[in-house]
Amino acid sequence: MANKLWEKNISVDNDVEAYTVGRDREMDLYLAPFDVLGSIAHITMLQSIGLISDDELPVLTDALRDIFNSISNGDFTIEDGVEDVHSQVELLLTRRLGDIGKKIHSGRSRNDQVLVDLKLFIRSRIEDLVEAVTRLFNILIKQSNKYKDIIMPGYTHLQVAMPSSMGLWFGAYAESLVDDLSVLRAAYEITNRNPLGSAAGYGSSFPLNRAMTTDLLGFESMDYNVVYAQMGRGKTERIVANAIASIAATISKLAFDACMFNSQNFGFIKLPDEFTTGSSIMPHKKNPDVFELTRAKCNKLQALPVEITLITNNLPSGYFRDLQLVKESFLPAFDSIIAILDMTGRMLDNIKVNTDVARDPRYKFMYSVEEVNRLAAEGTPFRDAYKQVGLAIENGDFNPQFDINHTHEGSIGNLCNDRIQLRFLDIVKQFDFATYHNAFNTLLGLNN
Ligand code: ARG
Repeated sequence: MANKLWEKNISVDNDVEAYTVGRDREMDLYLAPFDVLGSIAHITMLQSIGLISDDELPVLTDALRDIFNSISNGDFTIEDGVEDVHSQVELLLTRRLGDIGKKIHSGRSRNDQVLVDLKLFIRSRIEDLVEAVTRLFNILIKQSNKYKDIIMPGYTHLQVAMPSSMGLWFGAYAESLVDDLSVLRAAYEITNRNPLGSAAGYGSSFPLNRAMTTDLLGFESMDYNVVYAQMGRGKTERIVANAIASIAATISKLAFDACMFNSQNFGFIKLPDEFTTGSSIMPHKKNPDVFELTRAKCNKLQALPVEITLITNNLPSGYFRDLQLVKESFLPAFDSIIAILDMTGRMLDNIKVNTDVARDPRYKFMYSVEEVNRLAAEGTPFRDAYKQVGLAIENGDFNPQFDINHTHEGSIGNLCNDRIQLRFLDIVKQFDFATYHNAFNTLLGLNN
């Protein structure tokens, strides 16, 4: 086929083409708008160093903006016989503008092009992800505050242990998301550096102005060393996947708790009927399939960093086509984690909390430490109090008081949700999305 950027006189075997292109025509659609933005920045820089003329720049820029709009409108496809998004954009330009369309590739390679596309894609999806995490965080805090006085058993070894509360339960997952957001923040910082200009991985003899494209694309800084910039392929995805996996680990634990606490044998929470699914044989069933699928989806996401590690592990420095396969599981992962977060939020927002667990005699031993502490506070040495309560339990005459008075930071009576919220907001503030939005608007001519 004649549509390959690199084809000279010999056509490539059709089966080899199908095998090497693989799912790229589908995967590269995720990258398409960012590929165009990268190209607008690149040609603006090429004009500044004299590789594109003053007349050519606006013609090329307009055509690229049109392509960007067609992508936004869903009118863009990667044609059969065209290898990838980079080739498709260049093809559209040359169809429309003839030879000047062929100028845009000076001083770059598809290797740094796909690198920059990925960084821009990740940056924008991290923004969506931060919003989704925030939505769930707010629901968790709201429910924690609402149910702060609802006591339920806490477990160790899945044995009834000590009093816990619905406030603690919801709030624990809110605080877990704070730490996950810190990991995501670090991943964002690594993502937000410009690899463009590294070309095939070794730079270029053109006097590229990399500081200019860094600025034009709204990056915070650049990956300086061109060999390292190329090494960032796969590494950036792995680090971001780790951040996604961290969120997924939080939610899978929550999902397991929710399934368990929803079971009749616990009965601490109840899903509204419309959020459960039935059985084809057992007429009474109202199953928590949503949380079960959430758990499985979260576990799959936790395999993602491992998958990326295995694809990229043992590759020496420099570009390899192996890296292409990372896109297949990595690019859709954002949609997956965002859907998980939103569904979890919907479930928790509508969940019914059983307010009568605390006095259920099945759980009375959770008060054993409360009793020991009460005796100790009244002057009995702790070890003696422990023994006294232990013997009462053995003899079947343990009849605890039900009042709970935990006051230290992070305990039932003092959740510190306000401080958890402050920490969350502090991390959210550290993501600077406005800079890149502004840069994109300028590239698209939308800033006045
Ligand atoms: N589809 C390729 C990828 O994702 C684009 C880069 C191709 N570069 C090359 N040297 N073959 O890696």
